[in-house]
Amino acid sequence: MTTLSEYITDLDEGLAKIILAVSGTTDTIFASLPHRRGAAGTENIYGEEQKALDVWTNDILCEAFKATGVVKAIVSEELGEPWINPEGGKYTVSIDPLDGSSNIESNNLFGTIVGVHSQDELLVPAEKLDVAFYNLYGPITTLVLASNKGVTEFVKHRTGSTDYHVGKENIRIPEKGKLMGLGGAPYKWTDGVNKFADYLKDEAKLKVRYGGAFVGDINQILYYGGCFMYPELVDKPQGKLRLVIECGPMSYIIEKAGGASSNGRESILALKPGEVDERSPVYVGNKDLIAKLEEILKL
Ligand code: AHG
Ligand code: MN
Ligand code: MN
Repeated sequence: MTTLSEYITDLDEGLAKIILAVSGTTDTIFASLPHRRGAAGTENIYGEEQKALDVWTNDILCEAFKATGVVKAIVSEELGEPWINPEGGKYTVSIDPLDGSSNIESNNLFGTIVGVHSQDELLVPAEKLDVAFYNLYGPITTLVLASNKGVTEFVKHRTGSTDYHVGKENIRIPEKGKLMGLGGAPYKWTDGVNKFADYLKDEAKLKVRYGGAFVGDINQILYYGGCFMYPELVDKPQGKLRLVIECGPMSYIIEKAGGASSNGRESILALKPGEVDERSPVYVGNKDLIAKLEEILKL
């Protein structure tokens, strides 16, 4: 079976180095999961309590990126300021080192989100990404990569050749979606969001699946179709999720797989981030459902 390193040999060498830098840390991170479940006693730039694993995975990943020699900047949820390489470089990486940290304690799904671009500016619309990928720590460890070769799942083998091997190639979101993942507290949904949730329930007749980690909730939509939202809320019109390190890369992956994304008005991929810590409402899934969302929110 084709390994990850074999599969990406025809990508730009620098991109391959960055992807392998992340995949090369997953055994170390996986082994530490039982031993780093507590708080770090610090806060990130969003004022959120950092878990020990947030900080530790961030350090591991940033060191791995710096060692590639091709990374000119790192934007990370867990860095106060972006890291800028004094020697320059070709690629900017944006990462959520550990997405779903509240799931650590309850042993639910979580993972790492990575976006990579080679533009001059630090912050660019996600449509300019060269690749986006995520690691998912579940019963098995997978890495899902969106590149110019489509969307591909790699599975971390635990016996025999313990590399990542191709699991599923050319992943396409199923035409007829099955699931809806509805984030945020429903009592805080706006009227438009309530109307859309009713549509998903009564017209599209979807089943609820919500795991509390964006990376896992999007992975489910990639495999089973439907819609995930962490919407605008009455007290948070920009929602909760971060455009650069969460919404952009994951929307890039879903759109590469034939799905759609929106902030309620337009594709997430078209949004030019103004700030590193900018948030956006996010709706991701089948094209017909996202079109319906935009129609409802326009009313
Ligand atoms: P992070 O752990 O990187 O802060 O991300 C958590 C995010 C995202 O993964 C998930 O979709 C959302 O927070 C869940 O929020 P609620 O706890 O409000 O459901
Ligand atoms: Mn996150
Ligand atoms: Mn995080």
